[in-house]
Amino acid sequence: MSDYLTRKRICVLPGDGIGIEVMEAALPVLKALNLPFDLEFGDIGWECWKREGNTVPDETWEKINQCDATLLGAITSKPLAETEAELPPHLQGQNRRYVSPVIQLRQNLDLYANVRPVTDITGENRFRFVVIRENTEGLYAGLDYGRIPDQFLPLLQEREALGAPWRREGQEDATISVRLQTRSGLERIFEYAFDYASRHGFDRVTFVDKPMVLRHSSAFTRGVFESVAKGYPGIEGVIENVDAVALWMVQRPERFSVVVAENMFGDILSDLGAGVMGGLGFAPSGNFGKLGAYFEPVHGSAPAHAGLNKANPSAMFMTIALMLEHLGYPQEAQYVTAAVSRVARSSVRTYDMGGSHSTAQVGEAIIGECVSMAALNWAQPCVPTSPLGATHAQAL
Ligand code: NAI
Ligand code: MG
Repeated sequence: MSDYLTRKRICVLPGDGIGIEVMEAALPVLKALNLPFDLEFGDIGWECWKREGNTVPDETWEKINQCDATLLGAITSKPLAETEAELPPHLQGQNRRYVSPVIQLRQNLDLYANVRPVTDITGENRFRFVVIRENTEGLYAGLDYGRIPDQFLPLLQEREALGAPWRREGQEDATISVRLQTRSGLERIFEYAFDYASRHGFDRVTFVDKPMVLRHSSAFTRGVFESVAKGYPGIEGVIENVDAVALWMVQRPERFSVVVAENMFGDILSDLGAGVMGGLGFAPSGNFGKLGAYFEPVHGSAPAHAGLNKANPSAMFMTIALMLEHLGYPQEAQYVTAAVSRVARSSVRTYDMGGSHSTAQVGEAIIGECVSMAALNWAQPCVPTSPLGATHAQAL
């Protein structure tokens, strides 16, 4: 098999703040593991906005579109007033709209599944689950209004007629946000969740909703969930209340396997999952769709820590592990995950783990562990495998 056929192109976007430092510390693991990857570096984030009023420059889009996967560090977003104020003078007053690069990536590539595995980094295997968040609709569909638009008044009047009065403070003194869920949007995220379960050896998918309060929309989502579940007879599909799931995730995380939820519930539960895992310093994420995939740590740019070489790079390593699994290198992904766990249990720790080691030192320790784990297998050539073990070489 020629090298040309197995080489993968990765678009590397360090972004802002600690994103740059954790990327710098973790990226050398690809070379240390001798992986046949070509890296394309691109700009993204707040510095691009400040320079050209565009958080994702055209050249960056070109790179993203040409590559097999995108790896993002972190980006900075700021409130509306600052987005205008920090533009260069010649770009001010043009009504330029700031859209977070993360949102742009998800929307333009239609990356509907946000996947956040929660693993026990202590190595004790007390829990292993994943939160799969729908990325494109739900309460974050963009139907969010800082006043009540005229179009909603008939609905509020109808509600009033049913005995649920609206406190009439005027359209300017109330807001409204709409939870949009479509049959096709639900079907694809549920199918993704059940497929994920069968690929990763889980026997249950928990759909998180609020059926007793959001009665009508939840009756609809339930119908779609149950019909998708029928296609996966070996996997149990259950529906649970979001508040109860939050409680159990903290108290009995071992109860969960694949957890799937609409955008806002999934957003909250996936950060809760990061907490269960040991904090933002460890939590990885991947975003998947038919047009591509991008990977980023759950944490943001942590401006207070930026440039101090103190952020924990573990989340970036775990994110790289997700990317390796996606690209057909599950063995190397396991080395990286196991190395993060080993170092987390050692005395080489960043401040968030009660230590005083730097980002670079923890990064070097993790890479050192990876290399020793991989050493035994280095006699064999590096051939990508699918998550199920069949080699891509055979498919080619
Ligand atoms: P953040 O995740 O950047 O930081 C919150 C706190 O968590 C930090 O102050 C720090 O104490 C801790 N922390 C985060 N990552 C850490 C690491 N690797 N090691 C050790 N400690 C870590 O969230 P915050 O402060 O709400 O947002 C800061 C900026 O990041 C904002 O501009 C926000 O818009 C952006 N952001 C970007 C995200 C992304 O790139 N996807 C996600 C979340 C926030
Ligand atoms: Mg979040």
